[in-house]
Amino acid sequence: MMLEVDDLVVRYGSATALDGVSLRVDTGELVALVGPNGAGKTSLVNAVSGLMRPASGTVRVSGTVAQVPEGRQMFGDLSVDDNLRLGAWRRRSRRTDAVYELLPDLQRLRRQRADTLSGGQQQMVAVGRALMAEPDLLVVDELSLGLAPLIAADLVRHLAALNADRGTAVLLIEQEVGLAFGLCSRAYVLDAGRIVAEGPTAQLAAAPEVRAAYLGGFDEQENLS
Ligand SMILES: Nc1ncnc2c1ncn2[C@@H]1O[C@H](COP(=O)(O)OP(=O)(O)OP(=O)(O)O)[C@@H](O)[C@H]1O
Ligand SMILES: [Mg+2]
Repeated sequence: MMLEVDDLVVRYGSATALDGVSLRVDTGELVALVGPNGAGKTSLVNAVSGLMRPASGTVRVSGTVAQVPEGRQMFGDLSVDDNLRLGAWRRRSRRTDAVYELLPDLQRLRRQRADTLSGGQQQMVAVGRALMAEPDLLVVDELSLGLAPLIAADLVRHLAALNADRGTAVLLIEQEVGLAFGLCSRAYVLDAGRIVAEGPTAQLAAAPEVRAAYLGGFDEQENLS
């Protein structure tokens, strides 16, 4: 077991963002977490990575977790290379070779300032920076946000290769359900702070909860079909 979240509650003041969420990611597993805006996806990943203290519940991780944060959060005035090195601030070795090997497109950009990169290139740096921590679990919050579909698909291929080569487990938060389900064999649907559906992606793709997530959330009663 790589990650085990049990009955997690996260609150901001009196507002409840996560209301008893449980999920698991097995060693080397590719798992998607989808859900409409405000469902609590970022709150969940921040609780998993320790950025956010839960009101109750437990997060158990066996191994190293690294997060690709929502919105990438580059250090714009630093080079690609320096941004990558910051991902290894806890480690003794800050060698970037392995990351350039996995993401060869970054090699020729290594001296470029991060704020001059395209959105797709920045997201690749954000993934590379997380990989510098040599994680057993990579948590990606909104991989495709603001990216052209072809670029997003390319990043997904990199995650698949990472998983195949190194056995890195991935928890992928993604609005593009098709993209997420293409990569992942299992998924959770989060809505209003609760897991409303879970299972193999092949079966979940047709579930009403997933269609709701696609459309940004609506009640069954309001569904005209
Ligand atoms: N710092 C905060 N203070 C107060 N409320 C917050 C804070 N961060 C998040 N929330 C609220 O918690 C709920 C869940 O937010 P969260 O960012 O986790 O959702 P999300 O699923 O990641 O949404 P999105 O798809 O838009 O990124 C929302 O109602 C949001 O307004
Ligand atoms: Mg979010």
